[in-house]
Amino acid sequence: MAKAEALVVFQPSGRRGRFAKGMPVLRAAQQLGVYVESVCGGRGLCGRCQIKVAEGKFAKYGVTSGPENLTPIGDQETRFREAKPLADDRRLSCSALIRGDLVVEIPSDARANRQVVRKAAESRAIKRDLVTHLRYVEVAPPDITAPDGDAGRLTAALEKEWGYRSVTLDAALLPSLQSVLRNGKWLVTAAVFQEQGGAPVITGLWPGLKETIHGLTVDIGSTTIAAHLTDLMTGSVVGSAGALNPQIRFGEDLMSRVSYIQLNPGSQPQLTAVVRGAIDNLIAATAEEAGVAAADILEAVIVGNPIMHHLFLDIDPSELGAAPFALALSSALTRRAEGVLGGLPPSARLHLLPCIAGHVGADAAAVTLSERPYAAKNTTLLVDIGTNAEIVLGNRKLVLAASSPTGPAFEGAEISCGQRAAPGAIERVRIDSETFAPKFKIIGADMWSDEAGFAEPAGKTGITGICGSGIVEAIAEMYLAGLITADGVIRQPPNGAGDHLVRVGRTWSYMLHRGEIEISVSQKDVRAIQLAKAALYAGARLLMDKLGVDEVAGIKLAGAFGSYIDPKYAMVLGLIPDCDLKKVSGIGNAASTGARMALLNRRYRHEIQRQVKKLVKVETATETRFQEHFVNAMAFPNKVEPFTLLRAQVALPAAPAKAPSRRRSPAR
Ligand code: FES
Repeated sequence: MAKAEALVVFQPSGRRGRFAKGMPVLRAAQQLGVYVESVCGGRGLCGRCQIKVAEGKFAKYGVTSGPENLTPIGDQETRFREAKPLADDRRLSCSALIRGDLVVEIPSDARANRQVVRKAAESRAIKRDLVTHLRYVEVAPPDITAPDGDAGRLTAALEKEWGYRSVTLDAALLPSLQSVLRNGKWLVTAAVFQEQGGAPVITGLWPGLKETIHGLTVDIGSTTIAAHLTDLMTGSVVGSAGALNPQIRFGEDLMSRVSYIQLNPGSQPQLTAVVRGAIDNLIAATAEEAGVAAADILEAVIVGNPIMHHLFLDIDPSELGAAPFALALSSALTRRAEGVLGGLPPSARLHLLPCIAGHVGADAAAVTLSERPYAAKNTTLLVDIGTNAEIVLGNRKLVLAASSPTGPAFEGAEISCGQRAAPGAIERVRIDSETFAPKFKIIGADMWSDEAGFAEPAGKTGITGICGSGIVEAIAEMYLAGLITADGVIRQPPNGAGDHLVRVGRTWSYMLHRGEIEISVSQKDVRAIQLAKAALYAGARLLMDKLGVDEVAGIKLAGAFGSYIDPKYAMVLGLIPDCDLKKVSGIGNAASTGARMALLNRRYRHEIQRQVKKLVKVETATETRFQEHFVNAMAFPNKVEPFTLLRAQVALPAAPAKAPSRRRSPAR
């Protein structure tokens, strides 16, 4: 006698269970807690519940799976296939019933390959467990004998058909409610927003079946603002835009904006208004690029450093300007968009990730979520390098965070020929250790400056300056070539460096390029980089002390600079701690990735809130050892740290004095 139950295994999670034959695969998935999207509630209308069935014997599970173990395509699915494209190897899990054992694959994107993913950092497939779901529902028409309002019958239908409890309707939808219900002939799609443990709220309503809605992620940097628009039904990024942060006119860096506010009482709302206005413009730009109505963007996840976070929320950040760097709000926040971002519907929900500490913001929380050091056995160092370096170090036992005042040198500011990373900027440098002649690459040209054909692209962009990664390489190469001492003094090598070194007063400058614009590295530039790198290293080293480790298993560099910098040169300068170079990597815009994770999966929101509470915050400004580490880190690569792993990989000019034994302080 054939068994009445079948084993169904869902991939990629591997979750499995035995289910009665004749049950829709969608219901089996829901019973196991496997995430399969469904907008129409199993009516065969939305096409969101697609699955693929694997074929063959699966010894691991002891099953033989194949499409024949599903019921054949029936009327409901045929009607769907006639109306919309559905690949031959896919089935609607609401219509396909279990007939035998199955290994079921849930495609990560039911509309795979529809969108070209833009940047590597955004290509990560993020497991979805949406905060806002589309729910197709049939609402009872009005009845003169039961004078319940339209809103009451809509929420009652959602509770009955979708199992919600205590659904409410966002007040902004009331004016259009009656016309939407009647236009849809009582069949409507509601967007229901519900955070983990929160109450369900209808934040959008359309007549008939609504196919998709969108969500926005915004990373507010002090220099630039980046926004990505994501199709919530597929998880694909469909639009991206960036802009300079218009607050720059109130001050180049964070602290100068705080002091502007302090010196100009009543000015803070202006800084809030300009950043919100810039985000509204990015909403319009991403929506236009994707061909999406801004009215369909129902969620936004916003991250930024504490000062950007506060200014976005219309909070005066003055308290963050001095110790004890008190945050007005450190926990995550969800609120309506009304009165904040005019570019979104008023009912849309904004979510701000938690801030870690007074100088370690929601952007660092997003980077932490993206890399999840708290789930790893090995100790990882995460560094997000901007005008402030945000540093997170830890493993599954303990995670610590701090920020270090690196200043803007890594962004090309404070450097005599420095510029932001843009076409024409020198980004790679090599120096011949015999002749001391330089060669370089500029942004916008693929070849080295001594290669044939370089003149053509260089002619188009010009050779305009040197960006952050270029100055790091230039100084590291000068050190490796013997043009700079370990203490950072530019000096003539024993046999001279020809005209590559030029006298400037009592110091020397190294000529990188002679042309329309002369580009050189001055003694002052070396000092600026020494100060920045020493601050970064000291912050990282302080956290290592606190964690009680002398080595890290891996280093991940976030942010634009972190992604372009060559780990070898960063380590030669001693910008980051000693580590196997193969374990040092750029992770791109990890803050945006973390924000997208929080957008697409409510569990991630919960996860990072929990982790931020557990995370140990270290204030570098009040730690005496920070100063000691800072002074030692002024040298290349360091005055006391041996950098043995680096020395095994790169020939450094001379070994430093023997490192004194270090007293470890226990983790707090
Ligand atoms: Fe909508 Fe299957 S759930 S088509």
